[in-house]
Amino acid sequence: MTVAMRGDGDPATIGGDALVVTAFKGELGPAASDLDVALGGELAEMLSSHEMTGRFGELTILPAAGGIAARRVAVLGLGDRAVLDSFRLHNAYTLAGRELRRHRLTRLVLAVDPSLADTATPDMAALLRAMVTGTLRANHEGGVSKSEPDRARIVEEIVVAGVDGEAGDAIDSALAEAVLLAESTLRVQRWVNAPANTLTPTRLAAEVTELCAGTSLTVEVMDKAELESAGAGALLGIARGSDEPPVMIVVRHRGGAEDGPTLALVGKGITFDTGGISIKPALGMESMKFDMGGGAAVLSALHAIAALEVPCNVVGIVPATENMPGGRALKPGDVVSALDGTTIEVVNTDAEGRVVLADGLALARRLGATHIVDVATLTGAAVVALGHVNAALMSSDRALTQLVMRAAQQGGDRFAELPMSPEYDVCLKSKVADVRNWGGREAGAIGGAVFIRAFSGGLPWVHLDIAGTVWNEQANLKEVPSGPSGAPVRTLVWLARLFGRS
Ligand code: BES
Ligand code: MN
Ligand code: ZN
Repeated sequence: MTVAMRGDGDPATIGGDALVVTAFKGELGPAASDLDVALGGELAEMLSSHEMTGRFGELTILPAAGGIAARRVAVLGLGDRAVLDSFRLHNAYTLAGRELRRHRLTRLVLAVDPSLADTATPDMAALLRAMVTGTLRANHEGGVSKSEPDRARIVEEIVVAGVDGEAGDAIDSALAEAVLLAESTLRVQRWVNAPANTLTPTRLAAEVTELCAGTSLTVEVMDKAELESAGAGALLGIARGSDEPPVMIVVRHRGGAEDGPTLALVGKGITFDTGGISIKPALGMESMKFDMGGGAAVLSALHAIAALEVPCNVVGIVPATENMPGGRALKPGDVVSALDGTTIEVVNTDAEGRVVLADGLALARRLGATHIVDVATLTGAAVVALGHVNAALMSSDRALTQLVMRAAQQGGDRFAELPMSPEYDVCLKSKVADVRNWGGREAGAIGGAVFIRAFSGGLPWVHLDIAGTVWNEQANLKEVPSGPSGAPVRTLVWLARLFGRS
C-alpha cells in the first residue's frame, strides 16, 4: 500500500522518480523558483516562451539536472492563484497523478507552497491533505473487468517537502489522515464504478460487513423479512420490480456519550436505476450504475470515522435496491407506506431515490438521530443547474448547513445551496395519499428535497444532491478529473469531526 512521509530540508535533495513543483498563470511557484537556479533558469525561460503556461492542470515533465536528487522535475500548473480552493487543488493533483502514472513516475516528491495554506485551504493540514489525497485519487483503476489489466504502476510513495515552521508531529498526522482519506475515496470510486451485476445490494452489504469486521463499528444488514416486519414499505415497493433482494445497511459508530447527539448519514443505495416502469431512455442508461454513490460515500465515511476515533455518535443508513421494471414492479399511481406510516403515491417510478430515502430517514429517527444529512444522486435537475462542478445543498437548518460548508472546505468538495421557499411545498400534494413522489419538472432538485424533508421529523436536516459530482464525463470540462470522483466522502468524515466538536 501507498505511503506518504515528511521530507526534511530542501526538496531538491530528496530522491524519487519526480519532484513535483507548481506554477501559476505566467508565474513560477516558490519551490519552482528555487529549483530554477539549479536548472539554469530553464523554467522561467519556458514560461516566457509560452512553452509552459501555468494553466490549471498542465504538467510539464523535464529531466532533472544541476544536482537535483529526483530523476525528473514536473511542473504542475495551478492556474489563477486567486480562485484556487481545496476542490481545485485536489483536482489539479489528481490530474498530475494520472499523467505521472502514465509516465511510470510513481515515487513522488511533492514540494509544498506554504502560502497556499492561508489562501486556498483553511490550514496547512488541509493543504497537505489536498495534495496527497488528490494525487492518490489518481490510483483509481477503472478497467476492473479487462482480461489484460493495465500494467500502469500505481503511485506508491509520496514524500512531502518544504513545509516550514510546522511541528513535525502535526505534519505526520496530516499525512497519515491524507492516506486514510485517499483509501476511503478510492473505495467509493471503486464501488461507484463497479458493474451493477457484480455490485448488487447483497454484495454491497457483504463488502461493508467484511470491511468493518474487527473495527469498533457495528454493522446490521436488514433483509427482506426484517424490512417487512419493520414496515419499510417504501424501500420494499421500489424493490418489487427486481429479482435482487433489497437490504437496509445500518453502520453505527458510538464515539460520543450514550445520551449525546447522534448524526445520521443516510445514503441513496440504488445499485442500478432503470427508472422502473417509468423507464429511462436506453442512451446513456449504463451510467446509472453510479446511483448508489451517496450510499457508497456514507459507508466509506463511517469506516474512516471509526478509524479516526471521532468523538461523537454517527449512524450510517443505506437503503439499497435495484430499480427495475419487473412484472411485480410498482406502477405509476401505486401507493406505498413508509416505515413511519406516511403513505406515498408513486406517480413516477423513476423518482425512486427519494422513496427509498423516506424509509432511510424514518429509520434514522427511530434509531435516535438528532441531526440528519442525506446524500443522493437524486435528480438530473441538479446536473442541469450546477453541472459536475458543485453538488446541490438544501436544508432546514442554518447551523447544520454551515457545518457542512466548513467540512466541504476541509474535504475538497463544493456545495451550492438552493432555496426551500414555502411555495415549493405544492409538489408534495397528493389526492390519494399523504404525499406524492413527484410534483412536476419545475425546480426538480428542490422538489426532491421537499419530499425528503417530509421524513426528517423536524430535525435539523441537510440534503446533498450529488447527481452531477459523483461522476464527471463532460468532455470539455478538463479541470475536473473524468470518471468517479469519490465525492463527498471526505466532507462527510470532516462533518463528523466538526459535529463532535460543536
Ligand atoms: N438517479 C436519477 C437521477 C440522476 C439523473 C442522476 C441523471 C444522475 C444523472 C434519479 O433516480 C432520477 O431518475 N431522477 C429523475 C427524477 C424525475 C423522474 C422526477 C430525473 O432527474 O429525471
Ligand atoms: Mn430514477
Ligand atoms: Zn435514481
